[in-house]
Amino acid sequence: MATANPAKSDAASRASIARTAPESAVAQAQPAVSVAAPSRREFLYYIWGASIALMLGQFGAATIWFAFPRFREGEFGGVFPFDPVELPSTGDAPFFVASGRFHVAHTDGGVMALYGVCTHLGCLPKWAPTNERFECPCHGSKYRADGTWIEGPAPRGLDHFPVRIVYSDGSEAESAGLTPIVLAENKQIVRIEVNTGRRILGPGHDVTAL
Ligand code: FES
Repeated sequence: MATANPAKSDAASRASIARTAPESAVAQAQPAVSVAAPSRREFLYYIWGASIALMLGQFGAATIWFAFPRFREGEFGGVFPFDPVELPSTGDAPFFVASGRFHVAHTDGGVMALYGVCTHLGCLPKWAPTNERFECPCHGSKYRADGTWIEGPAPRGLDHFPVRIVYSDGSEAESAGLTPIVLAENKQIVRIEVNTGRRILGPGHDVTAL
């Protein structure tokens, strides 16, 4: 029976150690990386966070939407330029601007813009020249030239829109609430604006004159 050569066995063992040593070193230098899947709670946190972010985004968009004008000039809801040439003389019939849904009236009290919609149920009162008043065709409400209520089921006078008048010398006048603009004497009007984006509720029944 042949016996193993001890010297030869030692040499083989040393060669084996020399081959495996670097591999062990690499294995120690690169620890195993394990990516744990998010737990159910973490997943719910992510969903919750995304929902909050979406909500804040929508809120920001809505804020920007309200902060900037949504209507263009000459579009109902925006500012209408009104040609000063069309301004009625004192006591004349109001001038109706159909696209803006308003009447420009000029009474002894001054200039005003009246919303052309009845305050009862929303019909469109017409100017009746023979009676010199607005008359609603639906249920008979009647209004004076300045929009104040005369009779009928309407709960108040016609609503107003703010008016701004610019004169040739650069001065300006603006209506305040239901108070009309008294025109400046000896001044030429170069521009009139009616803001249909801000409706002022008409006067109640106890108010008989502006
Ligand atoms: S809608 Fe004008 S009186 Fe009724």
